[in-house]
Amino acid sequence: MKRERVKIFTSIKELADHSALFLKKRIEESRDGSFFTIALPGGSTPKKIFRHLAEGYADKINWDKVRIFWGDERCVPIEDSESNHKMAYDTLLKNLSIPKENIFRIRGESDPVLEAKRYGELIKDNIAHENGIPIFDLIILGLGEDGHIASIFPDQLDLFYSNKFYEKAKDPKSSQDRITITGKIINHARHVVFLVTGQHKADIVSEIIEKKDTANIFPASLVSPFNGELIWMIDTAAAQLLDSKIQKYGAYPLE
Ligand code: 6PG
Repeated sequence: MKRERVKIFTSIKELADHSALFLKKRIEESRDGSFFTIALPGGSTPKKIFRHLAEGYADKINWDKVRIFWGDERCVPIEDSESNHKMAYDTLLKNLSIPKENIFRIRGESDPVLEAKRYGELIKDNIAHENGIPIFDLIILGLGEDGHIASIFPDQLDLFYSNKFYEKAKDPKSSQDRITITGKIINHARHVVFLVTGQHKADIVSEIIEKKDTANIFPASLVSPFNGELIWMIDTAAAQLLDSKIQKYGAYPLE
């Protein structure tokens, strides 16, 4: 049975505290001598959570065991305010005792096709893998109002099904080139966590979790870890259109 859970929080702080304790426990459970590998997202919700992690958990989590990667990056220079690496570094990583050699940036300033290939090779060499597929311990995703995840947008679903580990993508609104993780890697992760907040996400959250409109396939609808766990960490505003039983029990499919 698919292990999918929905956890609803009344505030960003409560959500951040829970995500921090979730991360702390998973890292503590990981095998001695192995790194706990995380792929970070971009976006305003993750940014708020990163800030809380930095403020409250810099010395409460064994960051030495952690290797940091990204699920996607915008094709901009390293110091550009659009950079997901810059956002994570400024809000979280600069406050943590993670050795530089354990932080693996996607080079947004490089040619996207070449960098997607390089980063896919880098992933293969620096995280666990089974049958040739890289296995992240944790992939954190935001959710776009259009149902995009990482930089896989609804008009580029083929990227979800790609045989590559990372691909070049394009934001259809801004035409900004992106580099994104593919569905092959996402669905082989041990844990996938969605961080979603705000009333403006209520429609898409309900759509994806309850799969109402089967006519449309959203990238987020395709996230279903084969042997892993999918957890939605959302606030009450984003959860407001969910079935009352999901709101009450947080389990899905309803057990
Ligand atoms: C990015 C992210 C993207 C983001 C969602 C949600 O590079 O922008 O990886 O997938 O997580 O768009 O972002 P918000 O939380 O800002 O809505």
